[in-house]
Amino acid sequence: MLSNVLNRASRSDRARRAVEAIPVTRKVVDRFVAGADQDAALEVARGVSGRGLATSLDILGEGVSDIAGARRTRDQYVTLLGALGQTGAGTGTEVSVKLSALGQALPGDGHRVALDLAHDICVAADAAGTMVTLDMEDHTTVDSTLAIGNELRAEFPRTGTVLQSNLKRTAGDIADLAADPVRIRLVKGAYKEPVSVAHQRKAEVDEAYRGDLTRLMASACYPMVATHDPQMVELARRLGREQERGAAGWEFQMLYGVRGDLQGALAAEGHQVRLYVPFGEEWYPYFMRRLAERPANVAFFLRALARSN
Ligand code: FDA
Repeated sequence: MLSNVLNRASRSDRARRAVEAIPVTRKVVDRFVAGADQDAALEVARGVSGRGLATSLDILGEGVSDIAGARRTRDQYVTLLGALGQTGAGTGTEVSVKLSALGQALPGDGHRVALDLAHDICVAADAAGTMVTLDMEDHTTVDSTLAIGNELRAEFPRTGTVLQSNLKRTAGDIADLAADPVRIRLVKGAYKEPVSVAHQRKAEVDEAYRGDLTRLMASACYPMVATHDPQMVELARRLGREQERGAAGWEFQMLYGVRGDLQGALAAEGHQVRLYVPFGEEWYPYFMRRLAERPANVAFFLRALARSN
């Protein structure tokens, strides 16, 4: 299947070199990525805020292979949060962080390294009046990422965690967190996972998402409903009403460049909507996952390629 090929390509250096060498790639990437640097991202965040939406800024990069790279990621986030604090953009803008970019996979003490560096980012976020959400990567990282989230919340209670409905374990993870006001971003899951741990068919993932969303909305958690799927959006609206959460009791989240029409319509209805806005040079794996999610994006890419020749 095309999405499997693209998911594999997202982890291949050879495919990366080939895709990066195509001149038109950058134009297509710009649909999903806010720019190469912090200034570009902050400008996008201001524009998003002008539309009445909030932002979660993500510095692209994942799977660093040495401690120097992990510290560089930490430093970039601390600089970004310093700028957010100064411009006052802090309250409507949070940051999303991938722990693999903070050294989580380093042999030996990767978990500890990622926890310590994520702690530094939480300190900077707190000083800027904002908060951090820990993205979730492939299933091998989930235990470590959940544990780091739990540990950070002891000092920074607003630290958010992502749960992926394609994983069979997720209903249990919601149950573990349900009694506390934890910020939980519920997604379908963007990684190709083995059948032993994950639902494979779209219909199964959708069914799992419905169940997880229902449990999350009924919990004491703060649900961040991260989907562009109109059926899930409708279900979230209904559950929000039934649980009498009110507009401040939960939020929608969507990706920069995806379903701008729906983002605006939900905000106009009075819902809180937050956009996930990635930026930076390390766009390749993120971009390939966006292509894998939707064959129409590949067609868009190919049409741009054809036009450029
Ligand atoms: P689904 O894939 O069924 O798509 C429903 C509809 O949405 C499509 O028909 C199309 O209209 C639109 N759509 C979806 N994806 C699109 C795309 N790429 N381009 C254009 N249109 C698209 N995953 C993860 O594993 N870990 C994480 O930390 C995160 N974080 C995250 C944050 C936020 C704010 C969002 C919105 C998503 C994530 N994800 C993620 C990604 C998530 O797991 C999932 O892969 C995508 O959101 C696509 O799933 P949907 O729920 O949108 O449904």
